[in-house]
Amino acid sequence: MTVNSEIDKGVENGVALEESRQWKALQEHYKYIKSKHLKQLFADNSHRYEKLSFTLDDILVDFSKNTLTLTTMDLLFELAEASGVEDYRNAMFSGEEINFTEGRAVLHTALRNRSNTKVMVDDINVMDDVNDVLEKMEKFSDNLRNGNWKGYTGKEIKTVVNIGIGGSDLGPVMICEAMKHYCDGPEVKFVSNVDGTDFVETTKGLNPEETLFIVASKTFTTQETMTNANSAKKWLLDTLEDEKAVGKHFVALSTNAEGVSEFGIDTENMFGFWDWVGGRYSWPSAIGLSVCCAIGYDRFVEVLEGAHAVDKHFSEAPLKENIPVIMALVGIWYNNFVGCETSVILPYSQYLHRFAAFFQQGDMESNGKAVDRDGNKVSYETGPVIWGEPGTNGQHAFYQLIHQGTKIIPADFIGFINSHNSVGTHHVKLMANFFAQTEALMAGRSEADVRRELAGKMSEEDIDKIAPHKVFSGNRPTTSILVNKLTPNALGKLIALYEMKIFVQGIIWRINSFDQWGVELGKVLAKKILSQEEEMIKGGKVDLSEHDPSTAALIRHFAYNHS
Ligand code: F6P
Repeated sequence: MTVNSEIDKGVENGVALEESRQWKALQEHYKYIKSKHLKQLFADNSHRYEKLSFTLDDILVDFSKNTLTLTTMDLLFELAEASGVEDYRNAMFSGEEINFTEGRAVLHTALRNRSNTKVMVDDINVMDDVNDVLEKMEKFSDNLRNGNWKGYTGKEIKTVVNIGIGGSDLGPVMICEAMKHYCDGPEVKFVSNVDGTDFVETTKGLNPEETLFIVASKTFTTQETMTNANSAKKWLLDTLEDEKAVGKHFVALSTNAEGVSEFGIDTENMFGFWDWVGGRYSWPSAIGLSVCCAIGYDRFVEVLEGAHAVDKHFSEAPLKENIPVIMALVGIWYNNFVGCETSVILPYSQYLHRFAAFFQQGDMESNGKAVDRDGNKVSYETGPVIWGEPGTNGQHAFYQLIHQGTKIIPADFIGFINSHNSVGTHHVKLMANFFAQTEALMAGRSEADVRRELAGKMSEEDIDKIAPHKVFSGNRPTTSILVNKLTPNALGKLIALYEMKIFVQGIIWRINSFDQWGVELGKVLAKKILSQEEEMIKGGKVDLSEHDPSTAALIRHFAYNHS
């Protein structure tokens, strides 16, 4: 199956990726790079930093501490060209159904299209609907923030609780945390896990009369979200004792109007979006309502503007100057030619403490696929494992393995030149650590240096014993992303850079980055097991023979010991 025959004309049609000239050239080239140390690569080219660092407004991205050369990049650009990256990119922006397993366009870019140029889907300009919903979000969040929206008993809303999971949670949580400095509205909290603990602990101490729930679910069928939403309704009605109160304390963000009204929320209080918005890309849609409540609509628009600036850069800049394309290619280099299995995101900003978690879904749900566009099992690696924590905390936890472990883990360091919180010397210390880590990972420390340092401090015999443990091989790759300040605009840019990186990688790996069939099986089985558990807990007899012996025994053990 092809998405669009026009696109495939530009690609080396019919040639398996690994058999392509571009792929083989990169494999061959790796044999050369393998023997080179990053220190050597810097020594070989005095302009390496200038050639491998790029800026986009207030963002500087330095790729020079990666184990590659300008030749590597040229070969990677050839791979991108041959893979039709530009054609697919244009297809995405123009609303073609590039999510071909679900027959959907992929248009999160339209949600933040601040240029308001036409975007046509089925002969309709979707910008009209996008702008209508944005206007509704503006009115609602303004009213809520200035106290005009009152709860059922006439009290102002002091707390907003967003109930959602996956893309209907991670995006808004990450943005609200990142934008904490700008939060000047009601307190915004999040409930996602079906573990009742999440609901109970989040609502503990809240006054139902002053609480508004945002039920965020694209499908409005997700088990976790609907369970939490029903518990929220009960929690509210236990105090307010009138179904009519629901209208003043619940709004919905969804594509499913029927489900929303069945739940009891007036569709007047529903903020819609469309099937061409993927869950993990939905933060700029109505799903961003909690962000609007927290930081105000205007600031939310600034996040959209930042993302739009990157979308424009991605769609207009030549591949060789295109930052998300380069991020993607560097990732492909490690994933497919160097043999790295994971990639770590290390923001040197406490505000970005959920950034890696957000892109765990963004990347792994998008590119965790093993079947290509033609339905064939791929014979190469696709999406890496994404993980990460903010620095400097990570330094005192897992950096040991990044420095001296047996695995090579390409790392993205994200830091800010200016802090929102200039307390004493904190920020310069934070950034000194950022620079020190990237330098240490790159240069390492030789045995000769270790011996020099220890000389005279211990016996030769002891030095022989300890020296190997103190050697750092270096040659560990990092990309440094240095941003002026964590403003709403800069955050929008950072998000879009990673989103477009994921897109480019999916195109090169010839997979569909926009479906997520892999989450379905577990959902179906959970439904069945739930009814079996419930029956057993009631004392009924249940035939568990369809399960494997381990699962059957665990269900039995749980049901018979549950009280
Ligand atoms: O189970 C995965 C998933 O479908 C994600 O893709 C999505 O972000 C999440 O569940 C939540 O879905 P919904 O917004 O429909 O509740």
